Amino acid sequence: MTTQEFLGKENYTVTSQTVSESCPSNIALIKYWGKYADQIPANPSISYTLNHCKTNTILEFLADQPFSVQTFLSGNEEVKFEEKIEKYFKNIEQYLPWILRGRYIIKTENTFPHSSGIASSASGFGAIAKCLMALDELFSGKGSEEESLGKASFLARLGSGSACRSLYNGLVVWGSSDVVEGSSDLFAVRYPDEDIHAIFKDFNDWVLLIHEGQKSVSSTVGHGLMNTNPYAERRFQEARENFIPMKEILKNGDMERFITLVEHEALTLHAMMMMSDPAFILMKTGTLEVINKIWDFRKETGLPLFFTLDAGANVHLLFPNNGAEEKIKTFIESELLPHTQKNGVVKDVMKF
Ligand code: PMV
Repeated sequence: MTTQEFLGKENYTVTSQTVSESCPSNIALIKYWGKYADQIPANPSISYTLNHCKTNTILEFLADQPFSVQTFLSGNEEVKFEEKIEKYFKNIEQYLPWILRGRYIIKTENTFPHSSGIASSASGFGAIAKCLMALDELFSGKGSEEESLGKASFLARLGSGSACRSLYNGLVVWGSSDVVEGSSDLFAVRYPDEDIHAIFKDFNDWVLLIHEGQKSVSSTVGHGLMNTNPYAERRFQEARENFIPMKEILKNGDMERFITLVEHEALTLHAMMMMSDPAFILMKTGTLEVINKIWDFRKETGLPLFFTLDAGANVHLLFPNNGAEEKIKTFIESELLPHTQKNGVVKDVMKF
């Protein structure tokens, strides 16, 4: 879908409506870090959509009232979020001409803890974009489900880039890549099911909550610092190149190469932060301790436990359900959990 196609709308009948939608979070394997104007990613990325960590959103639209947005997170009003959503709605008026013609009450809750390093912006904007598409269909007539998801992904991207990947389950690509057919900078697409080995279709993501406080540098600022990072161009090129081995790995089920590539991507993301000016480090002591313990465990047992990191200190522990998972789970509980702040771990799966 191009921007032009998105705009192809007819007449609207705008009425008061309440819609509710839910959307999961996602965790990237090849990372998006750095962007251009209008939320165009500097390189393509691929992520797993989680099964359980979701945002559930009820959006009440009161037609023909002055435009305003009220948001509640778990029953508490969130003023900071209101300003962000108002700005977002104004920004997407060019795609949804009715959007400023009413008042919004948005009630949202996450099925996972706040500040857990699980991207609530991804699930949150994903859920809001789905609500907006539900309203758009009520006002203008229903389109196909596929078209509607594509449009929701397009809209979610304009809220928070990585959110556009949350609209689909399984493995999802955002950003134009020569090796992924149909991929686009404007919205995400599902990675073709037939090109994914069974081993990658039943995976765990256990998130160790190493540090539960506010991040010292936001993603927005982090992306911005790539503009002056002398290594940025090489990094963007590497991410594009990494899709070539990733495609082979996903097809033939090569777990060893998968582990090497995914951990390299996570460490590169954090290396970019350290190479920024000003430099910043989001990993904590516990992050490094856990990484070293994972490497020792793999060396000793040969079992496929590995990690990825988001823009934060928490560690996403990845491992397949292929027979060795009980041993891995026991190791995590006894050896890695002590490195968390409050024995915090969020257990999710990616099964599709
Ligand atoms: O979507 P944003 O702006 O919150 O950026 C997310 C960037 C990473 O989570 C670090 C990587 C990614 O691809 O999700």
